Amino acid sequence: MGPPIAQPGKAHSFSVQHRTYNHAPRAIQGLRQPHMSDDSTSHPPDAAQPGTPSKPFMRVVKSYVLRTGRVGPGQQRAYEQFGPRFLLNYDATRRLDPTAVFGREAPLVMEIGFGMGGATAQIAQVRPGDNFLCCEVHEPGVGALLKLCGEQGIENIRIFRHDAVEVLDHMLPEQSLDGVHIFFPDPWHKSRHHKRRLIQGPFVNRLARHLRPGGYLHLATDWQPYAEQMLAVLSAEPLLQNTAPADGDGYAPKPDYRPLTKFENRGLKLGHGVWDLVFRRV
Ligand SMILES: C[S@@+](CC[C@H](N)C(=O)[O-])C[C@H]1O[C@@H](n2cnc3c(N)ncnc32)[C@H](O)[C@@H]1O
Repeated sequence: MGPPIAQPGKAHSFSVQHRTYNHAPRAIQGLRQPHMSDDSTSHPPDAAQPGTPSKPFMRVVKSYVLRTGRVGPGQQRAYEQFGPRFLLNYDATRRLDPTAVFGREAPLVMEIGFGMGGATAQIAQVRPGDNFLCCEVHEPGVGALLKLCGEQGIENIRIFRHDAVEVLDHMLPEQSLDGVHIFFPDPWHKSRHHKRRLIQGPFVNRLARHLRPGGYLHLATDWQPYAEQMLAVLSAEPLLQNTAPADGDGYAPKPDYRPLTKFENRGLKLGHGVWDLVFRRV
């Protein structure tokens, strides 16, 4: 029998406020995978220790609000049929062993917030030599990517249906990633919601520390004020160096491997521009 898999359940909606939690979502609580190492002592120094029911609730601002959305019958089937092959279970007490979960050693790229996963699947196919660790909290989106992986036989993708920030903090050691993709993260337009934006100094520092020297961080957005914030935050991070031409505006030409994403397409139809940023870890 394969490892236990996270099953889709009912989607919950939350108000746009601080969300409190001290537990993993019901479906993935307490599930472990045999191929994860048991090194719970070497968490990054800034990582919170795994919660226990007796601990006080942590108050955390999340970068997402779980959207209500129906998992369609095809996506439901994909969870059942392909989940055991492609889904990973979040477990804050264990380190991920990428060689074991992918069945090979290869450069590891983490994607945060893949949406419906169309672009993710295409990138994995044009870069067969790389492993892609993909995180998304939207249940139908995870179902959609599972369907693509299963039907198209995409072997270099593994998926966490979980908050990428927690995966990064608790399951991945520093200098374990060769790349990070964050395409069209939620822009949180209103200023009172800016605290929810993913791209902020402390998180970018954690991302940078998780990259190996020479590893890259690729961001894209269609919201100019967020692009400007990204450029300012990444430029201020001493571990990162901009790859964009020195005589330009700081934004990078779109790398060939990134296709048009669903949210990008929506932005283009609204007349938005698109800004890519590619920085390398020094
Ligand atoms: C605006 S959508 C963009 C989706 C996709 N990258 C695209 O371009 O079509 C942002 C996605 O990021 C996901 N997201 C936001 N914060 C996340 C987090 N901390 N961990 C995992 N996914 C997250 C949201 O659920 C949402 O699907």
